[in-house]
Amino acid sequence: MPGYEVFGKEEQQAINDLFVINGGIVFAHGFDGLRKGVYRVREFERAFAQRLGIPYAQAVSSGSAALKVALKAMGVKRGDEVITPAFTFVATVEAILEVGAVPVIVDVDETLNMSPRSLENAISSKTKVVLPVHMMGAPAAMDDIMMISEKNNLLVLEDTAQACGGTYKGCCLGTIGHMGAFSFDAGKVMITGEGGMVTTRDIDYYRRARAYHDHGHEYSPNVGRGQEGALMPGFNYRMTELQGAVGLVQLSKLDMILERQRTNKKKLMAAFRGLPFQFRKILDPEGELGDTIVFFLNSKEQAIAFVQELTRAGMGTKNLPDALRWHFAKYWQHIFSEYGIYEQSWGSQWEKTEALLERAVALPVMVNMTEERISQIAETITRIAEKTK
Ligand SMILES: Cc1ncc(COP(=O)(O)O)c(C=O)c1O
Repeated sequence: MPGYEVFGKEEQQAINDLFVINGGIVFAHGFDGLRKGVYRVREFERAFAQRLGIPYAQAVSSGSAALKVALKAMGVKRGDEVITPAFTFVATVEAILEVGAVPVIVDVDETLNMSPRSLENAISSKTKVVLPVHMMGAPAAMDDIMMISEKNNLLVLEDTAQACGGTYKGCCLGTIGHMGAFSFDAGKVMITGEGGMVTTRDIDYYRRARAYHDHGHEYSPNVGRGQEGALMPGFNYRMTELQGAVGLVQLSKLDMILERQRTNKKKLMAAFRGLPFQFRKILDPEGELGDTIVFFLNSKEQAIAFVQELTRAGMGTKNLPDALRWHFAKYWQHIFSEYGIYEQSWGSQWEKTEALLERAVALPVMVNMTEERISQIAETITRIAEKTK
């Protein structure tokens, strides 16, 4: 959860500067006469696109909004099916439902990301988009996912909320599919309080994302905002200038964050060598963020005992298992009953995913970790592993 670890005086300065320059105008758009030429959200979009090596990025108000805006940009309509994994944050499925589409939720494999085989089996004549999620900083199997999607003429939206700055075979996550969605909420690798970004290489998707996030505005260069036309129906998912200013600073820290947490993860993994754990399969160790270590114990009971000992030692886990309820579709009856989906089969779904998740423990890797803290963690984990084996 590094963004907040390095949040400090540079971000404060960036906000103060906005106040000095133009009184802290927090509008994303308009007020051209008052803002003294300052457009922080636009600068942030440009810098983010450049960092990822793509032409277009559209800032929005949250990662959840980014997913919805991207689905709208891709033309997803009522009744279309969108395939996504059973292990994700609930927002992924909420966004699909928000645009009137049907989430088709498939198993994950040992990577804890979408199983390409489950994806292939779930494709129907109604499928429009494949929505893989790069969970806990590690890339989904993008080669297979892209190949299957291309073969079936499907669009791909990468939920990159938890993997900003990660790569897969040298390509930035969020730029491999047709669109990407990022989150900058308080727990992410880069934070803007709340905030998100939509990315694409396609100018038409970009134009639609830009229009949808701002009431349909077509962003005409020839007339003022009040006179311009609408490209499509839209809503308000705009990012504020304050978020844009903070986002620029956090983006400038991204490489430092990645470097430090990857180094810390390597040190911890070296200390865990020899422990009888099965670690999560990482498809591209060079490209993952390094902010999480996930391992599987032999049984659900052993995992429960392990976590009890961790708690006793004053150590927390990262979502697995402490926030599983919000990250595993099995627990989303409140959604399925409302929308009338998965009602019959709820409870018997996603058994493969459940068999993995109930044995999984995820440890956070921080940016600011001293050698002493790393040794302490290694000692505690080794002791608990011995005690609960
Ligand atoms: C995988 C995933 N998708 C989407 C989101 C939604 O992002 P936000 O909290 O910015 O709305 C999150 C946030 O936790 C997430 O982890």
